[in-house]
Amino acid sequence: MQILKAKDYEEMSRIACNLLVEHIQQNESPVLGLATGSTPEGLYRCLIEEYKKGKVSFHNMSTFNLDEYVGLGVEDANSYQWYMTDKLFAHIDVPTRQIHLPNGISQEVEQDCLDYERQIQEAGGIDIQVLGLGLNGHIGFNEPGTPFSSRTHAVELAQSTRRANARFFSGIEEVPTQAISMGIASIMESKKILLLVSGKEKAEALYQMMNSEVSESFPASILQTHPDVTVIADELALSKVLEFYGEDGGIPEVEEGKAR
Ligand code: GLP
Repeated sequence: MQILKAKDYEEMSRIACNLLVEHIQQNESPVLGLATGSTPEGLYRCLIEEYKKGKVSFHNMSTFNLDEYVGLGVEDANSYQWYMTDKLFAHIDVPTRQIHLPNGISQEVEQDCLDYERQIQEAGGIDIQVLGLGLNGHIGFNEPGTPFSSRTHAVELAQSTRRANARFFSGIEEVPTQAISMGIASIMESKKILLLVSGKEKAEALYQMMNSEVSESFPASILQTHPDVTVIADELALSKVLEFYGEDGGIPEVEEGKAR
């Protein structure tokens, strides 16, 4: 696991952006796994800027999002489909047919989940999966207790996750109780994982992700076993890790992230 330390949220976003832009420039048909939430918003702003400056084109890129709320359709401003369109896709040249998100209003959830997995396989698998980190260690919407063998599936959202996400809605009662999420096994098959973590409130979760025993009770702990994980975290998110190891006595793998 490689840990890149960023000064702040902006730097974290820029380091992640550089990494993705480089991958997209160097690959003929890049396949990215994308996340929602507050954490990747700065990354998406940066990708749009790079596109507008003419530094990168997304015309060959395919994307697969991690998750979607059950019951929210494309036209719902709280759906992840809307989020992705608003924060990234509408501003770059990725063709609509190359964009994939789980279908939150599916009438045939099981079949759609199988199809989603098949589409990922047909695209050649995910090259780089962008992940955020839930306060309770969830990745995608895979809550504590989700089997490590899980694939794209319907999930019940933990009350704490609904509370954390209520800020995007008019109240917690508006937050759906279920979602469709890529499973943990699906996420772990990505060739590379880019975990973005920002802010003091994530410090404990980041520490646990790196140090707790690998257990389904803290889903992100599985990342310790993936062969190619890069964590890009800002100083606040790394505060507990740095406090534990000492600022300079160092965790060998923490490096200063470089933003071009
Ligand atoms: C949400 C999303 C995840 C996201 C995580 C952290 O519930 N389903 O994909 O990574 O929780 O969100 P945030 O970045 O807003 O803290």
